[in-house]
Amino acid sequence: MSESPVDPQQRVAELRALIQEADYRYYQLDDPSVADAEYDAWMRELRGIEESHPDLVAPDSPTQRPRGAPSATFAPVRHESPMLSLDNAFDHSELRAWYERITRIVSDPIGFVGEPKLDGLAISLLYVDGRFTRAATRGDGVTGEDVTANVATIASIPKQMNGSGAVPSRVEIRGEVFMPLASFEELNRRQGDAGDRLFANPRNAAAGSLRQKDPRVTASRDLDFFAYALGVKDGGPALRSHHETLAWLGDAGLPVNPHIERLADIDAVAAFCERILQQRHSLGYEIDGAVIKVDDLGQRDEMGSTSKAPRWAIAYKFPPEERTTLLKNIMVSIGRTGRATPFAMLEPVFVGGSTVGLATLHNEDEVARKDVRVGDTVIVRKAGDVIPEVVGPVLAKRKPGARRWKFPKNCPACGSPLVRLEGEADTHCVNVECPEQRVQRIVHFASRGAMDIEGLGEERVRQFVDAGLLSDAGDIYSLTVERLVPLERMAKKSAENLVGGIDASRSRGLARVLVGLGVRHLGPTAAQAVARALGSLDAIEAASVDELTAVDGVGRVIAESVQRFFAVEGNRVVVEKLRDAGVDLKAATAAAPARAPGGVTLDGLTFVLTGGLDAYSREQAQAEIEARGGKVTNSVSKKTSYVVVGESPGSKLAKAEQLGVPILDEAGFVDLLAKGPEK
Ligand code: IVH
Repeated sequence: MSESPVDPQQRVAELRALIQEADYRYYQLDDPSVADAEYDAWMRELRGIEESHPDLVAPDSPTQRPRGAPSATFAPVRHESPMLSLDNAFDHSELRAWYERITRIVSDPIGFVGEPKLDGLAISLLYVDGRFTRAATRGDGVTGEDVTANVATIASIPKQMNGSGAVPSRVEIRGEVFMPLASFEELNRRQGDAGDRLFANPRNAAAGSLRQKDPRVTASRDLDFFAYALGVKDGGPALRSHHETLAWLGDAGLPVNPHIERLADIDAVAAFCERILQQRHSLGYEIDGAVIKVDDLGQRDEMGSTSKAPRWAIAYKFPPEERTTLLKNIMVSIGRTGRATPFAMLEPVFVGGSTVGLATLHNEDEVARKDVRVGDTVIVRKAGDVIPEVVGPVLAKRKPGARRWKFPKNCPACGSPLVRLEGEADTHCVNVECPEQRVQRIVHFASRGAMDIEGLGEERVRQFVDAGLLSDAGDIYSLTVERLVPLERMAKKSAENLVGGIDASRSRGLARVLVGLGVRHLGPTAAQAVARALGSLDAIEAASVDELTAVDGVGRVIAESVQRFFAVEGNRVVVEKLRDAGVDLKAATAAAPARAPGGVTLDGLTFVLTGGLDAYSREQAQAEIEARGGKVTNSVSKKTSYVVVGESPGSKLAKAEQLGVPILDEAGFVDLLAKGPEK
């Protein structure tokens, strides 16, 4: 940013104030007010203005000193050499620009070491005669906080150094304390259960855990540590390069990140940055970039440091996966079973590789737990392919008078009272006539896992319902080219294709009809079993609970659900329409479509299930997988083929994200059962 549209002096003051406030919240309160990306943008803008207006540079500007300042809770520790920060490169051209700068200082070829940039907090450890003696936070880089008692509880930090060579009489080791993702999830679950404040991310959890007055609290938090630098060192072996330093640290018993690599030149550096970016979600802890360091310590000395950061290192920052944005509204959507799901309407933000404008809030308790309120600035997170999530509000930015969100009393679509039964997490619209449920039921009937009618998605269904052409799934078969063509956005060709698709769906078979009707608990495998055993829809409708439970894979829950379904007048009407329209309701001819569930194989694939699914109990989901040759196991590993995620998933979801295991929601699961894995 070269020129600012507003008065530069005014903007500089404004940016400094914003940064100061953000620093205060981040370091003193462990309660950040902005996402890192926003903070970085302020810093860059400030630096840009200061570069083009050198008269505005002031010694106390945040650009002239490292972030962070010590608090009053812990005794101050003056670092023997300052703990500097790192300059950032936000893309490859900035990385190469850094390289150009350092090659102007040093003429010999430069070798590098690449490290993951851990998203935790920098710590200095002092070992005297090999014994762990003191730990301090970075603070403002000159003075940090004494957190010895707390750091002493971190299991991976040795109390006594070992190693083959002579132990230095005094050595300062620097590195990062962080919280592994699985431990973070677990901690937040515990916090939630106890009604305590949730941590926004693992870094805040690590910082909050380390800055506890009572070390027993720190001890109950699973913190970890990687060493990546030396401060002062009196005695011990002479070290000439960073890779020698790391090897020595490892030998002395300090944990060193196994993903660190020596890199011969800047091309290898660029490739390393990309590799680490790819591995970002499979490390088990959060990283926000790669740190590239000049390997040769002699070359480092030649390059030197500014007051803020060394010239011999650079942080290559990854695109942010967390951003803050405005929560414009909280609305409720109604599903085909009437489930009312709250969701966040956000001021769209580009995060984690896509623009996010909507995010589910799951249920009433989830909104209460996060306490997000309309008008709040919220942290939105989207990591990799994972569904976007509202992490929580930025309380510092909450407007006075912001009200707690209340679940609406009435269905937004039909106005009838919403019902939440005791002991259940979900709230329902129980009016079967509800127009939104109607739309969603039709959408489900036409979906790929059911009757697979191409071109009949939610938008079209809504249009046809509004035009009075559809009131239930049975009406689909009354759609003709003549009736469709007058509608908006409906060319003759599309109408013909759609009617062709509808026609083809008549012979999908009874099992798919049953799935399409949306009988609760009746998944594709049970539907097939029932269809095969009873032979026709008439027989199923007439069957007693005993006759139904006699079918392999059908228990009381399914049997009673089937009976309940046919007891509803509206459902019988739909079935009549299907029959009149010539839809195949006989099992014998069932399941012979091009992509029959029966033909699907999941041979050699391993599944892990977490959270509740709508259409299947756990056992049913397992049976569906096993019926196709797949296996279900309990724990997620790199070998897991898919993790199927339902409502309120457990820590397995986090584990899958860490390991980069593909994640399926219920719709994806149904699809996989129907069609098999993509080739
Ligand atoms: S070296 C003078 N190596 O990033 C260089 N820092 O943005 C000192 N960090 O304060 C830092 N991973 O808290 C270094 N592998 C790594 C790192 C790392 C994370 C943090 C560290 C530092 C901050 C600078």
